[in-house]
Amino acid sequence: MDMRALSKELKGIQRSQRGYAKIFRGPYGVCNGTIYKDRVRNFEVQDGKVVVGERTIPNIWLRDNCQCSSCMHDATKQRLLDTFSIPKDIAIKSHTIGQNVLKVEWSDGHSSEYTRPFLSHATRSAEFRAILRQGLTPIKLWDSSIASEAPTENYAQTSEGDVAQILKNIRKYGFCYVDGTPFDDPAATEFLLKRIAFIRETHYGGFYDFTADLASKDTAYTNIALEAHTDNTYFSDPAGLQAFHLLSHTDGEGGASLLVDGFKVAEEMSRTDRKAYEILSTVNVHAHASGNEGISIQPYRSFPVFEHDTATGDLLRVRWNSSDRASIELPIDEVEIWYDAARKFDALLKKKENEYWEQLTPGRVLIFDNWRVLHGRSKFTGKRRICGGYINRDDWMSKYKMAEFGPKTVLGTLASS
Ligand SMILES: [Fe+2]
Ligand SMILES: [Zn+2]
Repeated sequence: MDMRALSKELKGIQRSQRGYAKIFRGPYGVCNGTIYKDRVRNFEVQDGKVVVGERTIPNIWLRDNCQCSSCMHDATKQRLLDTFSIPKDIAIKSHTIGQNVLKVEWSDGHSSEYTRPFLSHATRSAEFRAILRQGLTPIKLWDSSIASEAPTENYAQTSEGDVAQILKNIRKYGFCYVDGTPFDDPAATEFLLKRIAFIRETHYGGFYDFTADLASKDTAYTNIALEAHTDNTYFSDPAGLQAFHLLSHTDGEGGASLLVDGFKVAEEMSRTDRKAYEILSTVNVHAHASGNEGISIQPYRSFPVFEHDTATGDLLRVRWNSSDRASIELPIDEVEIWYDAARKFDALLKKKENEYWEQLTPGRVLIFDNWRVLHGRSKFTGKRRICGGYINRDDWMSKYKMAEFGPKTVLGTLASS
């Protein structure tokens, strides 16, 4: 094998992938509904290939993504076709172009139909295609002034409708209150969360209902103040949503809740100190949860504080928890650069204008995006009873996307998103 030719070829592939991996362009910029609503483009067939704009669709991809019910299961949208039974030289034998559809007779004897939106979407840029996959919609960055217009919905006993609106708020602001939730019984809160998706089990349990004590060996269960942080930095896949409901607070005071928009603070940092932003976006940090007997949970790899989507270059997740931080993935004599950058982020998180404080009251459930919004609380006295739980990112996004974009759109772009 000619290793030099191979290395040249691989470098070419890496170059075209780099076009997609703009991981330094963050933070959030692409989440724009107007891009999604862009017009559907026309296609044509030239020299036996389907062409949309400057992009030519390889026949193998087109044949592999035939949408007919013998190639793709109608209900599950799973591929039934054996991809590798398609001849390598699969060709378009003949075609007809209808109103909004391309009909193809293939050289292997199969016939396929592709709609114009399907062909158009497949040839879009990586950024564009990521919009549906990630459920991107315009988001609103906020600071402490959100206090006067905090997104709030009312608890509904049964309907599904309010869940769509709650998730829409969470996608836009990173959090939503649900007022009027019964607080005499934690079951109402559990019912609300389960309407979004199943509640995630962790080593602490699933849906919880506790009164401050140290039974679970984590500072969250004490009465001390907690600085703004994200949960589950010790998991490879931190929980997507977290919910709290203060059911009662007796014989004491304090315990205000703190929320900080991590994306807003990251955006501020990317403008004011680009170098620090890039250090926090590239230096990986380890984390752990080891308070329970016989358990030491650590992610399968270390992650940076700011993680970006490789297709869009947009900020995707903030991981920040100083208590649970383990080692920094740098040679020991270089770790100061991380500390310097982290100190700057910490100072921005603690800026008065970035801190939104709210005294939660029984009946008001707080649900927030743990990949974006940091939470904390002030110390308190007395007895507090709190219930809540976690929901996985993939599960709440699934619910959100189906409600926001509709099954037809979401399922119609699986092959091209
Ligand atoms: Fe927490
Ligand atoms: Zn087919």
